[in-house]
Amino acid sequence: MGGGDSKLVDHLLHYGFENVSVLDISAKALERAKERLGEKAEKVTWIVGDISDFKPTETYDLWHDRATFHFLTEAEDIEKYRNMVQNHVRGYLIIGTFSENGPKKCSGLEISQYTEEKLSAVIGEAFQKINCLTIDHKTPFDTYQNFLFCSFRKR
Ligand SMILES: C[S@@+](CC[C@H](N)C(=O)[O-])C[C@H]1O[C@@H](n2cnc3c(N)ncnc32)[C@H](O)[C@@H]1O
Repeated sequence: MGGGDSKLVDHLLHYGFENVSVLDISAKALERAKERLGEKAEKVTWIVGDISDFKPTETYDLWHDRATFHFLTEAEDIEKYRNMVQNHVRGYLIIGTFSENGPKKCSGLEISQYTEEKLSAVIGEAFQKINCLTIDHKTPFDTYQNFLFCSFRKR
């Protein structure tokens, strides 16, 4: 979710994951990832779309979102995202957001910061928390962003 041109998809394919989908609002970012992957890109379902409008047609064993969910700042959009993962994730959910010690903006846009408690509450009772950790992510500009990562299992 919001995979952009990150290399997670390369690693998932390398380790034998199948039926991998990558959604991003930026067609250009997905094009860059496709070019990088070459023929392997054909194994991936590429979806250009806005997470707020996404209406999945399937359910996923694993859902990964690093630094996209936190762009949702309206209660209505956050609620829609929660309903989407409740209805379309049957296995595991991994979400990374800026923590309360992290930046207040990402790419110049307002974001929602999360604590472990806040993220667990937002994701809701349909998921059981497995683990949460915070890390300082070093950006390409040699600055640090404090992230919260939490993993959940569908109950
Ligand atoms: C900070 S980047 C993170 C990219 C990747 N997940 C990573 O960790 O390297 C945020 C990504 O979210 C995408 N994005 C932002 N708002 C979005 C939205 N409303 N719907 C879908 N993708 C969005 C951006 O295009 C960008 O690729």
